[in-house]
Amino acid sequence: MSYNLLKGKRGIIFGALDENSIAWKTAERVFEEGGSFVLTNAPVAMRMGKINELAEKTNSKVIPADATSTDDLENLIEQSQEILGGKIDFVLHSIGMSVNVRKGRHYTDLNYSFSEKGWDVSALSFHKVMQTLYKKDAMSEWGSIVALTYMAAQRVFPDYNDMADNKAYLESIARSFGYFFGKDKKVRVNTISQSPTPTTAGQGVKGFDGFIAYADKMSPLGNATALDCANYTVTLFSDLTKRVTLQNLYNDGGFSNVGVSQEVMERFVEK
Ligand SMILES: NC(=O)c1ccc[n+]([C@@H]2O[C@H](COP(=O)([O-])OP(=O)(O)OC[C@H]3O[C@@H](n4cnc5c(N)ncnc54)[C@H](O)[C@@H]3O)[C@@H](O)[C@H]2O)c1
Repeated sequence: MSYNLLKGKRGIIFGALDENSIAWKTAERVFEEGGSFVLTNAPVAMRMGKINELAEKTNSKVIPADATSTDDLENLIEQSQEILGGKIDFVLHSIGMSVNVRKGRHYTDLNYSFSEKGWDVSALSFHKVMQTLYKKDAMSEWGSIVALTYMAAQRVFPDYNDMADNKAYLESIARSFGYFFGKDKKVRVNTISQSPTPTTAGQGVKGFDGFIAYADKMSPLGNATALDCANYTVTLFSDLTKRVTLQNLYNDGGFSNVGVSQEVMERFVEK
């Protein structure tokens, strides 16, 4: 279903790796809602991924950029404005990666150079994206910037490892930069805290199957899917949410406010 919510709007979408990616679903939905955009991902991901397929489907161009490189980001933002024909109305930061998780390092045995790399990719890159947009005055007034996060920033999920710290940092950047972006350019900045979702990044977390099943049983509406996240993001890019900013918004079927659910409790009741 399409409501033309993003007709005439221009944007940049980071992080579409394959059709399971939250960014992939978002690009499809933004396209359906009339938005135009540039797709971007790390050069290495582009070789593995299928981004050109998505670009063809959505009439969009692809510009490789490592989100930790300010040179790449400058080039991306300059070229995007040229391709799209003006300033940027919306940006999705859908990027996450922990080297410690990938290499199976436990949280009590972190390799700190892995931690620094993961923090740069997953958290600081959000500041780099916004600082580059800000300095280039590349965002339109009433534009919208969204990054994706997870509730391990607030509560303990032991296997989420150092990504929990990266997400806490990311959410803080959204508030801190969002203040200046709001005051100076009338641009809003929010994070969406999404349910566990079966994507490449999601499935990299140890014990993901148990994790996702548990969250589903705890949530009165069940887990939010990648498509649900895409739809929520569309609303945040639209003019219907103009004064929503500096928020961490849960898209999790209610999980974050549930103490225990009937289904989970039943597993612990002695028969
Ligand atoms: N899947 C989940 O369970 C879940 C839950 C909550 C939040 N999130 C967040 O959603 C976002 C998207 O992840 P996803 O689940 O769609 O997985 P995904 O693996 O499809 O997407 C992660 C993307 O990050 C990109 N990336 C990694 N390093 C990069 C770099 N240096 N520069 C640019 N891009 C880089 C990857 O190429 C990939 O496209 C992430 O921020 C993730 O933490 C995911």
